Amino acid sequence: MLKLPLFADRVKPVTDRCRSDKNTRLRLRFDPYYNVVEEADGINIVCRGRRMVMMSSNEYLGLSTHPEVRRAAQAAIDEWGTSPCGSRLANGSRAYHVELEEELAAFLGKEACHISVAGYMACMSSLSSLAQRKDTVIVDKSIHASLWDGVRLSGADVERFAHEDMDSLRALLTQLDPARPKIIVVDGVYSMEGHLANLPELVELADEHGAFLVVDDCHGFGVLGRQGRGVSDHFGLTDRVDLICGSFSKSLASTGGFIAADRATIEYLRSSSQQIIFSAAITPSATAAALASLRVMQKEPEHLARLWENTRHLQGILRALGVDFWESPTPAVPIVIGDTEKVYFIWKSLQEQGFFTVMSMSPGVPVGKDLIRTAVSALHTKEMLDRFGDALKVAIKKAGYKPQKVAA
Ligand SMILES: Cc1ncc(COP(=O)(O)O)c(C=O)c1O
Repeated sequence: MLKLPLFADRVKPVTDRCRSDKNTRLRLRFDPYYNVVEEADGINIVCRGRRMVMMSSNEYLGLSTHPEVRRAAQAAIDEWGTSPCGSRLANGSRAYHVELEEELAAFLGKEACHISVAGYMACMSSLSSLAQRKDTVIVDKSIHASLWDGVRLSGADVERFAHEDMDSLRALLTQLDPARPKIIVVDGVYSMEGHLANLPELVELADEHGAFLVVDDCHGFGVLGRQGRGVSDHFGLTDRVDLICGSFSKSLASTGGFIAADRATIEYLRSSSQQIIFSAAITPSATAAALASLRVMQKEPEHLARLWENTRHLQGILRALGVDFWESPTPAVPIVIGDTEKVYFIWKSLQEQGFFTVMSMSPGVPVGKDLIRTAVSALHTKEMLDRFGDALKVAIKKAGYKPQKVAA
């Protein structure tokens, strides 16, 4: 088609926005994200042509290369093909979905469960239609982006309380109209901080104010509680948490996510959540990998035991180095540096010494809390973690980072 010369050279405003975006330019210049792993065998990877140990994967139990998990995913493709090609509500429901939902619900101690293509979708769908206009959703300000999206889509009023601050939550609840429906939303384990939700106080406050309690347990599932049943089981409070959402991409070594609650809540979400109704069902292989991992978790306790041994070992190393790890009591271990430039240099030096980590800067974390996010896996060996400690010591010295406290 012939273009009019007047319009031919005009850059559209949206195209211009993309080309001139400052964050994108900075990212491309320093190139810290979207690192492509060229080869992987568990946590041993090759990235940018260099052999590295993965120190930032969420594969807590190390099951993605487990023979039974691999075999289950392969067999599912042989039996069912690659995709159900449709939403659960329409043509996409399969026997393997129901099998995983039933086993997950029983494992978690909830009546029913619904699974989705991503943890993000599951967490978002747990709120987007559960909350409605004129409801109040009260959130810890550090909840995951997926929950924020769910809350925003719901159109409900939002109140936030300071991270893990139960006094601030109590004060908020007391000020709110008692007649209005309320939902409290927290992470079971906060993904950046590694902190554990104060469930004993949360359930008390929720009950006292008639608030529905939603817990995103993406980082607690597989890690805490009996056989990895999660944060609610860890505190013995499963019955008092109304809805648990989680991910398959961490302990379950797959991709996908779940919501678990009483049957009425799950059926309500199945008939009202746009994300559930209008998105295709999770694939056979992803479902089968998650189901096989769930079964391995229950019959092979050694993975969970090793995860915690490794976590304690890394905590000891970081304490000895005087590094601030935000007092994380879980395998999600932040190394708080508090200065963007230093974080970058430490991250780069760790890569050069063969350790893959991920940086997280403000606004992803609070100002002054810029950090290197590490996560422990059952696949790490003590020797790997010791070497990581040595590399970190070199990196922080080079970057001029002053350790906060001296080891006890
Ligand atoms: C707390 C939390 N919620 C939700 C998600 C989303 O899960 P997925 O990556 O499986 O989509 C994540 C993932 O990082 C997470 O950390």
